[in-house]
Amino acid sequence: MTHGDSEPVLRLVLGSWEELREDAEPVRRAVFVHEQGCDETREWDAFDAASLHCVAYRGDEPVGTARLLPAGRIGRMAVTAAHRRRGFASRILERLVAAAAARGDLQLVLHAQVAAADFYRRHGFRSEGNRFDEEGIAHVLMRRHLGATGEKQP
Ligand SMILES: CC(C)(COP(=O)(O)OP(=O)(O)OC[C@H]1O[C@@H](n2cnc3c(N)ncnc32)[C@H](O)[C@@H]1OP(=O)(O)O)[C@@H](O)C(=O)NCCC(=O)NCCS
Repeated sequence: MTHGDSEPVLRLVLGSWEELREDAEPVRRAVFVHEQGCDETREWDAFDAASLHCVAYRGDEPVGTARLLPAGRIGRMAVTAAHRRRGFASRILERLVAAAAARGDLQLVLHAQVAAADFYRRHGFRSEGNRFDEEGIAHVLMRRHLGATGEKQP
């Protein structure tokens, strides 16, 4: 499957941690542990087993991932450095937003790294409250209300 420029099409797969762990782990390790210096022992937690995961593939290579927690929260959004700014994170985010809306979530929250807040703002999330520290990185709480079909609310 190729585009006119012969780049592989991005393929998104939704699944459980058991199904997607093998492909989500290397992406999160590269981005959060190696690139951002987060503590690997805290990278993997009990929410992984309880979450719906999305992995993005170019060809057979996993290049991005994120998870939708049971309680209407999105987290662990990562795209490997070589594959950024092609809209891949946007595709992953919108797929998880659609999954949340389809199961009846009325809103989504996330802890955005301050550097990534504009990315989420473009996807209808609004920041609330003060910045706070997680893993030595400044974060802000962001929220998006979902309509019946998951479209962005004004
Ligand atoms: C944030 C991240 C997931 C975006 O992935 P992506 O596939 O490049 O995102 P998209 O192509 O869909 O959107 C790119 C937009 O995100 C925004 N952005 C926010 N932070 C960014 C960053 N550190 N690098 C690149 N773009 C960033 C920019 O506005 C950019 O738009 P532009 O190219 O028009 O300037 C990716 O940069 C990443 O994995 N960063 C490190 C981990 C991280 O910060 N995760 C978020 C935790 S809250």
